[in-house]
Amino acid sequence: MQNFVYHNPTAIVFGKGTIATLAERVPKDVPVLLLYGGGSIRRHGVYDQVKAALAGHSRVVEFGGVEVNPLHETCMKALEKVREHGVGFILAVGGGSVLDASKYIAAAACLEGIEPWAILTSGGAVVQRALPIGTVLTLPATGSESNGNSVISRRETQEKLAFASPLVFPVFSILDPETTFSLPAKQVRNGLVDTFAHVMEQYLTYPAAAPVQDRFSEGLVQTLIEVGPRTLSDLRDYDARAGFMWAATLALNTLIGCGVPQDWSTHMIGHELTAFYGLDHAESLAVVMPGVWRHQIERKRAKLAQFGQRVWGVDSAEAAIEATEAFWQSLGMPTRLRDYGVDADEAARRIETRFRQRGTVLGEHGNLDPAAVAAILRLRA
Ligand code: NZQ
Ligand code: ZN
Repeated sequence: MQNFVYHNPTAIVFGKGTIATLAERVPKDVPVLLLYGGGSIRRHGVYDQVKAALAGHSRVVEFGGVEVNPLHETCMKALEKVREHGVGFILAVGGGSVLDASKYIAAAACLEGIEPWAILTSGGAVVQRALPIGTVLTLPATGSESNGNSVISRRETQEKLAFASPLVFPVFSILDPETTFSLPAKQVRNGLVDTFAHVMEQYLTYPAAAPVQDRFSEGLVQTLIEVGPRTLSDLRDYDARAGFMWAATLALNTLIGCGVPQDWSTHMIGHELTAFYGLDHAESLAVVMPGVWRHQIERKRAKLAQFGQRVWGVDSAEAAIEATEAFWQSLGMPTRLRDYGVDADEAARRIETRFRQRGTVLGEHGNLDPAAVAAILRLRA
């Protein structure tokens, strides 16, 4: 196991009726920005619950309209509001997109003499300070409620870039599974596959003498295999949804990634599919991940075999890949580029060119160069 420091500063407040606790958790001595997305929170009643909890807060400024795959351009409009009102705390209410936007705005608000987009191009290196953030999560998927990651897109350049900073971990996150009952099945399916992929990006590398991390990871995906079909077949089953929601947080709150090699190549390639072709984030992962595993099967064989044996009860790396893809399909997730009307050859060429320009190499061994990425995409036609 490699050396590590484990420190997660986010307080998780989990369960029914917990939005009311915002009253004590949101500071009263500074103006607060209430940030939300396209309006689902008004339809499913979360907005009313939040406003009721903040009734004792006189200075709440609202900004709605953060889109799926949040745009830099929109975040800059929210930043204007932050500056105009001297906002000192951001409350993000929604899914991963709203939470990610809040992190970018919180960091941009404290930058001096640097363009905000540099936060993304530097991967977060320029972030020195950030406004504190609290969240009310309405979509289990990204783990953004308990990590320092954020992914922002830029319309004019068709880019989708990520940054990470310990300074943008939320100080608290409220997780009430009932607020997620209004999610359409497609978003639940997306969340299940995204969570599954997060575990695997931290697990499916090579043996690293990390038995706790391995067993935790296997337990998380076993939980998804157990509760996933249940939470999809009955969208209001509280226990199944609560199990899924907690798994989604634990999958990407930095815990299982401590002290182990990681391989985020599926996410990095997937972000490009979203940027160029508009696939949902989880859709892009379902397409790419089996390709990364097949392409890297010899380097990943030991871990694939362990995963297959412990999670699926199968006896080969190949069977483990097949079982995983079949599970995602059983949740209603298409896993091939053709299913989304994307030409694999064209996607391979575009993404190879972009990665060449950026000098991108991926994988836990740093051996996936742009040509390898193109080969992976062609495997997924
Ligand atoms: O915008 P509103 O109206 O709120 O509607 C949203 C949106 O249309 C809707 N929704 C959310 N909660 C709902 C609801 N509809 C009904 N009932 C509810 N309770 O769902 C739609 C999708 O929301 P979004 O926030 O975009 O989804 P998700 O949470 O999957 O976030 C995706 C974004 O997170 C990034 C992705 O790249 C993508 O941009 N990621 C962030 C990560 C992180 N911060 O650690 C890691 C992930 O790998 C991922 O890259
Ligand atoms: Zn993801």
